Amino acid sequence: MTMNMPAAPAPRGTVSPLTFSDEELEWESQRLMTAIKQPRRWTLDICRTIAPYTLEINRLKREKDVYLIAHSYQTPDIVYGVADEVADSYSLSKSARDAEQKIILFSSVRFMAETAKILSPHKIVLHPSPEAGCSLAESITAQNVKDIRAKYPGVPIACYINTTAAVKAEVDVCVTSSNYLKICENLPGNKLIFIPDRFMGKHLQNALAGKKEVIIYDGECEVHAIFTGEKVRSWKERASEDGYDLMVLSHPECDADVLEESDIIGSSEVLMTEAIRLGNEGKNDIMLITECGTADRIQAESDSELNLIGSCVMCRHMKATQLEDILQALREPLPDQIIELDDEVIIRAKKSLDEMFRFTEM
Ligand code: 13P
Ligand code: SF4
Repeated sequence: MTMNMPAAPAPRGTVSPLTFSDEELEWESQRLMTAIKQPRRWTLDICRTIAPYTLEINRLKREKDVYLIAHSYQTPDIVYGVADEVADSYSLSKSARDAEQKIILFSSVRFMAETAKILSPHKIVLHPSPEAGCSLAESITAQNVKDIRAKYPGVPIACYINTTAAVKAEVDVCVTSSNYLKICENLPGNKLIFIPDRFMGKHLQNALAGKKEVIIYDGECEVHAIFTGEKVRSWKERASEDGYDLMVLSHPECDADVLEESDIIGSSEVLMTEAIRLGNEGKNDIMLITECGTADRIQAESDSELNLIGSCVMCRHMKATQLEDILQALREPLPDQIIELDDEVIIRAKKSLDEMFRFTEM
């Protein structure tokens, strides 16, 4: 693998885990190393350091009836050490809606934990890193949406799930990276407003050209905005000079110029499953244009010798959560680690999410 990957994060030392026997620790370290499948970055020594955290977290989950959901961009120690489910934002929203446990712990950014609370309002929803935001969610307020609605009366508003609960409460339907094309195409009328991602909005404008007018906003993902079509073209040229037949896989939060250079466009989960599929078909030279967590998951879950090319970008918000934050939230959550939303916001935002499920399952 030639992709540059960030180093494994070391515990900050803010929370001390319980003491476990040498036998338990050795067994857990081996389990972690085998599951993460990156022995050079996630060495046995590193796995030994994190083992007491994962052991205590897994014990607390059982004792307190907690369902631990983690987004694909969380670090491998969380994904393969403690998560009950890992996926993209659409699948995780459904899991949060359908979870049977009393408590949901969402290891991810704030808007995803808020979405879980909207969909399961009677459950306790824990979010270990209250400061973990998202540049898209921060790019638009509920008042901005009210202003847009006043400017374009009667035009349906579709909003990317990467938004606050207050914004979701003001729109007609939510979408994710796995259903935005289908939902926007099926919305009534020949005009729609798409907020807040300008790149995904541009992609929609191109895809629906001649069928629907798409009015867009100016938010962007600070991670996917870094990739440019020019960079992708130069990587492709280099690969072809070296004799590689490169497959380019990118996330729809990237610029339209990047998407044009791509063979496959999809959510974090789709990119992972497609990379695994390509590997199984012997197409091992893959360029991933997305956050580094997807490459971590591919490494762990593919049985092929993949040659991942290029360099991924890390989301500082997604990577804000560490095992010790999860441990602390499970032991005794701080007030701001418990998601609380206004009842009226929950009711109104839930309508937009229910519409998303309805359109997706149509
Ligand atoms: P996915 O739904 O594709 O996981 O995307 C969420 C996200 O924040 C990507 O940057
Ligand atoms: Fe937000 Fe981008 Fe980070 Fe996803 S990768 S959480 S869109 S800033």
